[in-house]
Amino acid sequence: MDGTILTPEGRPAEDFVIDQGWERYTAQDHAIWRRLFERQSALLPGRACKEFLDGLAATGAAADGIPRFEAASDILEKATGWRIVAVAGLVPDDVFFWHLANRRFPVTNWIRAPEQMDYLQEPDVFHDFFGHVPVLMNPVFADYMRAYGRGGLKALRLGALPYLARLYWYTVEFGLIRSDDGLRIYGSGIASSRTESVYCLESPAPRRIAFDLLRIMQTDYRIDDLQAVYFVIDDFRQLFDATRPDFTPYYAALKQRPDLVPETALDSDRLIAPNAPQAN
Ligand code: PHE
Ligand code: FE
Repeated sequence: MDGTILTPEGRPAEDFVIDQGWERYTAQDHAIWRRLFERQSALLPGRACKEFLDGLAATGAAADGIPRFEAASDILEKATGWRIVAVAGLVPDDVFFWHLANRRFPVTNWIRAPEQMDYLQEPDVFHDFFGHVPVLMNPVFADYMRAYGRGGLKALRLGALPYLARLYWYTVEFGLIRSDDGLRIYGSGIASSRTESVYCLESPAPRRIAFDLLRIMQTDYRIDDLQAVYFVIDDFRQLFDATRPDFTPYYAALKQRPDLVPETALDSDRLIAPNAPQAN
């Protein structure tokens, strides 16, 4: 594990880290966590990948209440060198990348209101913790996220952030992975969403395309609806290896290509069939 701190020019002036303020959560806050946790825990067996389910169990997160970030960080750090830091909401891009590059995942400290159970415009602690932390327990995925943080700082310098943001969207947030028993979820935006965790695997509507790095970086995404397209990796190693090369020439090539809408079908797409509907 390489814990190098970034060069001084990559370091933002402010880190946006706050105290989680765990004592300030109300009984209602913990009750909302419980409802969300129980709902997703019932849906995800047979739908989320093994790495996600094992990671979730290992974090110590449970239905009884919003986890304490310090305790989860101590477990996570032993597994992959990552820690969780509390933030008040979305942080500037450079700050976000700088944290990732140093193996820190920013988690929003507040939880949604009861009327926002199924839809939120910004990430809350349920999305950030339940969705993102489990896969950070996996060493290969953890290394990918760290590399992504460094790549983000570089993309900012190269004016290529929109391309790299699509990679995050279609892998970290909405990624699917193959297993011997069919497709599985690893993306946090799916794993934390009741409707999307079924739709992404079973609905005939979206297209599911085998992972293709440049195709992903060329493709726009929807932020306010179920996805029209998902990209499927074979395993986390494929993701790590494919993103290892210097992206500078990729960005140059992408600037010569048109952006694609999510519904686009290309002859070169390798389509993957949905899973058969699951009983529960
Ligand atoms: N290899 C990429 C680059 O040179 C960095 C990166 C790694 C980006 C992993 C995304 C994911 O820019
Ligand atoms: Fe997220």
